[in-house]
Amino acid sequence: MKKHIVLLPGDGIGKEVIESAKDVLSAIAEEFNHLFSFETHEIGGAAIDLYGTPLPETTVNACKQADAVLLGAVGGPKWDLNPSHLRPERGLLGIRKALDLYANLRPIKGFKNLLHASPLKEEVISGSDLLIVRELTGGIYFGSPSERRDNGQVVVDTLVYTRREIERIVDKAFKAAQGRRGRLTSVDKANVLESSKLWREIVEEKKAQYPDVAVEYVLVDAAAMKLITNPTHFDVIVTENMFGDILSDEASVLTGSLGMLPSASINESGVGLYEPVHGSAPDIAGKGVANPVAMILSAALMLRYSFGLDDEAKMIEDGVQSALDAGFHTADLRVENGRQVGTTEMTKLIVDFIKTQT
Ligand code: NAI
Ligand code: MG
Repeated sequence: MKKHIVLLPGDGIGKEVIESAKDVLSAIAEEFNHLFSFETHEIGGAAIDLYGTPLPETTVNACKQADAVLLGAVGGPKWDLNPSHLRPERGLLGIRKALDLYANLRPIKGFKNLLHASPLKEEVISGSDLLIVRELTGGIYFGSPSERRDNGQVVVDTLVYTRREIERIVDKAFKAAQGRRGRLTSVDKANVLESSKLWREIVEEKKAQYPDVAVEYVLVDAAAMKLITNPTHFDVIVTENMFGDILSDEASVLTGSLGMLPSASINESGVGLYEPVHGSAPDIAGKGVANPVAMILSAALMLRYSFGLDDEAKMIEDGVQSALDAGFHTADLRVENGRQVGTTEMTKLIVDFIKTQT
C-alpha cells in the first residue's frame, strides 16, 4: 500500500515523539511491504517563529493533499503572552476546522502491568476499556461572539450547535458502539443547556436505527465522577466539544499517564489527523525523556482508521504492551521494579518487536 503522510511536529516534545512515530511506521512499511512517504510542515509556535502565523497556507494545503496527518503538540511559554491570533493553539483549532475533523476518537484502556501506575485503585480500573467520541469542530470553542466588553469587565463566549453537527457525531458514536460492546453513554447537561436538550432529542431519534446498541444519558458532572469511580461501566461515550476535552483528560488517569493516550480526529471522507492527547510538555522538552507511546499509538490508529491496516496497527499495540510487560517505562510512569528508559530507547524496543515478529 502506498500512502503519503504529512508530519506536523509542532513544539516542545512534539518534535521528539513525532520522530518515534516515523521510526515505527518505517519499520511497519519495511516489514509489511508498504510505501509510506513523509513530508514535514510547521504548525503552532514553530510556524509563528518562522512565518508569523500559527497555521501557514502551505501547511493547510499539504494536509489537504495527504492521506493522513500526524501531529505532535503545539504551544509553550514562549508564546503564552502573544495576542490570541498569534497563539499556537490557533494552529490546532484552525487545522481541525480546515480539514473538517468533526469526530475525535480517544480509546482508553488500562495497560496490563501499568495498573498500579495510576493513582486510582487497581481493582477500580482493572478491565476498563472505553472510547470517548468527542465532537471537535463545534460548540463553545468555535462560537462567536467570543469577546470582552465594557473595558474587559464583561466577557462572553457562545455555544452553538446545528442539528447536522450533532447528527453526524452521534451516528459515528453509534457505529463505534456496534463494533464494540454495544453500549452508548451520551453525556450532556440537558437539565440546563438548550444545546444539550437538542443533543438528547437527536440521540433519542437515532436510537431506532441502531437497535443493537443500548443507550443511556448521564449528566456531565455525574459522568466525571463515574469515570473514575466505576470506569468499567463505560463502553462508548459521546459528548460535545468542551465536555469531551475535560472528560478525556480525566480519563487519562486510568492509564497512569497522559503520555499513553492516542487520539484520532477524522472527517467525513475518512482523512484523519492523529495526535497524542498530551501537550508540548515544556517542562521536559529537549531532555529525551518524553513518553513516545501516545504518539506511536496515534500512528497505530492512523493505520487502522485511515488505511484499514488492522494487522499492522495491532502489531504496534502489541509492541507497546511487550515493552511494558518487560518492565520498560519512561519517567512519567510509576512502575515498581521497572526499568526506566528514555524516548529513543522506548521507541527502539517497539521497532525491534516489529522487526522480530514479522
Ligand atoms: P502537557 O500535556 O504538555 O503536560 C502536562 C504534564 O504531563 C507535564 O508535567 C508533562 O511533562 C507531562 N507529560 C505530558 N506528555 C508527556 C509525555 N509524552 N511524556 C512524559 N510526560 C508527559 O500539558 P500542559 O503542561 O498543560 O501544557 C503545555 C503546553 O502544551 C501549553 O502550551 C498548552 O497550551 C499545550 N497543549 C497542547 C496540546 C496539543 O497540542 N494538542 C494539548 C494540551 C496542551
Ligand atoms: Mg485538552
